[in-house]
Amino acid sequence: MTVLQNIKACVFDAYGTLFDVHSAVGKHRSRIGEKADQLSMIWRTKQLEYTWLRSLMGAHVDFWKVTQDGLDYAAETCGIDDSKLLSDLMQAYLALDCYPEVKETLAALTQKDVKTAILSNGSPHMLAAAVESAGLQDLLDGVFSIEDVGIYKPAPRVYQLACNRLGVSASEISFQSSNAWDAAAAANFGMNVVWINRFGQKRERLPKPAHAELPTLAGLPELLA
Ligand code: 2OP
Repeated sequence: MTVLQNIKACVFDAYGTLFDVHSAVGKHRSRIGEKADQLSMIWRTKQLEYTWLRSLMGAHVDFWKVTQDGLDYAAETCGIDDSKLLSDLMQAYLALDCYPEVKETLAALTQKDVKTAILSNGSPHMLAAAVESAGLQDLLDGVFSIEDVGIYKPAPRVYQLACNRLGVSASEISFQSSNAWDAAAAANFGMNVVWINRFGQKRERLPKPAHAELPTLAGLPELLA
């Protein structure tokens, strides 16, 4: 099934799409105990909430600080006050597992003469560390952090950054994200969007739906003409 025409670049969200944000807690599950899954869910939820709130307030700090603040909130909520454990969890965020189909998919796209890039809330240091840890550096033409525009997704100028850096129009980009709100923002901006619905979520009631939906990234190359 060919869905997307005239695609010159595939741009990927990082956290949740290429990298498994819950693998940080997963690496330390035995030290955390029964509240591990609750900690990870609250951590991710707060991390994202703080990005949206800080952008609306005009009180920007980078994603490392927001990730730290989200973890502090989640740990206090779960009654965890082991500072060494919290420090180890932050370090684990620099080396998250990438999903199993990621490398093969990126390699297949480079065979199709399509540029590949990350567009993420992550700070440059966080993204460089995660990309190197997962061994993706030779499979990406670019790694773009919102730090270059000083505001978080879903602000339109974040998606404009990818167009500017790649030298292509929004309609020549296929944007992939597992975060439905991020996918909706990219579609609203004018990109072609494939929602990577890893968690079987329901459709968001937001302005523009994705052009296609996949359970993982594995089916992406065959969507491109
Ligand atoms: C990212 O920008 C949305 O956190 C996700 O990588």
